[in-house]
Amino acid sequence: MQKILGNLVDAEKGIIDRRIFCEQDIYELELKNIFARCWNFVAHESQVKEFGDFITTYIGEDAVIVTRAKDMSINVMLNSCPHRGNKVCFAGEGKVRSFVCNYHGWAFGLDGALNGMPANELYDNTPGFDKSDWGLHRARVETYKGLVFATFDHSAPSLETFLGDFRWYLDAILDNDDQGTEFLPGTTRSVMDCNWKYPADNFVGDIYHALWTHLGGAEATLAPYGGVVVTNEDSYQASVNGHGWEFSVANNFGNAATMGDKEIIKYMRAREDEITAKLGDVRAKMWGSVGSACIFPSLAFLPGYFTFRTFLPKGPNQTELHTWTLVPKEASDEIKDRWRKGCMRTFSPTGILEMDDGENWEHATAANKGLVTRNQKLCYSMSPVEQDTSGALPGTVHKGQLTDANQRLFFKRYGEFMDAETWDDIPMAPITR
Ligand code: FES
Ligand SMILES: [Fe+2]
Repeated sequence: MQKILGNLVDAEKGIIDRRIFCEQDIYELELKNIFARCWNFVAHESQVKEFGDFITTYIGEDAVIVTRAKDMSINVMLNSCPHRGNKVCFAGEGKVRSFVCNYHGWAFGLDGALNGMPANELYDNTPGFDKSDWGLHRARVETYKGLVFATFDHSAPSLETFLGDFRWYLDAILDNDDQGTEFLPGTTRSVMDCNWKYPADNFVGDIYHALWTHLGGAEATLAPYGGVVVTNEDSYQASVNGHGWEFSVANNFGNAATMGDKEIIKYMRAREDEITAKLGDVRAKMWGSVGSACIFPSLAFLPGYFTFRTFLPKGPNQTELHTWTLVPKEASDEIKDRWRKGCMRTFSPTGILEMDDGENWEHATAANKGLVTRNQKLCYSMSPVEQDTSGALPGTVHKGQLTDANQRLFFKRYGEFMDAETWDDIPMAPITR
């Protein structure tokens, strides 16, 4: 495998080799050096609120179960029986007391421990067999203000170190009142025939596409009010450890406005002073302004709509999307329901804006497969704005949201992970907030 950073990824000039979007051996290394190593988002705490609640998802291509155990701890473990490997849970979510494997009936607790099996005595009479050796393989679990992350790499630094100062930005959405947030019930699952990095790169810093891709969709939903207005005045891109957020500070409801629901706009405007008092003017605007964000490698969200989504890799040419709507717990049921509908109209498999995006990512992925095509480069060089070195905002900040800066930093991070032998080789930005 050739070196990624400096060879397939030139993060300084913004020249990216297309092979990272299509080649199987590069994809296999991504599973090992990125997904099996990183902190991966697996759930919101509200999805496993009570003892027995569980949901299933993936870390890379590894199926995992997220549970709430009796001691109220959150557990993440492989969804694969250590006896012969069968899946132990086939449901997307639910409530259980234990997981019983279909094949031979081994039973596991909510913490993954092997509790028993049919014809127990066969194992009682097996010299050296110890049930505690054969539980479901567990991941490390840490949370940040409602978001649950897990990693299978026991040498990984803390989640706090991994997120670094990006937590300061996340608080705009996760910590702007006393009650916190929750996911509305239900998970939307869909499959796109695209490389997982296309959506990640889009959310980490590509507002540029909205001026063109979403023009028709926005006008269709909003009639004469549908013009997409994005400028480098009053806007920024911020990046920390490869996590990125591009955002406007013109108002606190720009993204939400395209859902076309006046009651949501009223709610957001009414809360601006309170959030400004708690978090300051910039983050009060970031709560809902025109913008998008991605936590490396593949958890993305949109302020305003509050759609949260993971891009789960299924080979170099396919991605499974899981999406949810995050809402402030304190909002009324009516406002929450308006958010649910607005989010479904725009960012769901049938949402008009999500369909706009998916088509582009699928066609780009398919085009890269061509033998001559895959040996060409992609242009990530757009740099019309200066870096903001004032230190007013944490991380690497650029003055304007129409730039490829965050995407270059995302791929720089991608290269650092791909080339690293261990976590010690991966640089971490200092924590300043
Ligand atoms: S494979 Fe699970 S009990 Fe045998
Ligand atoms: Fe888009």
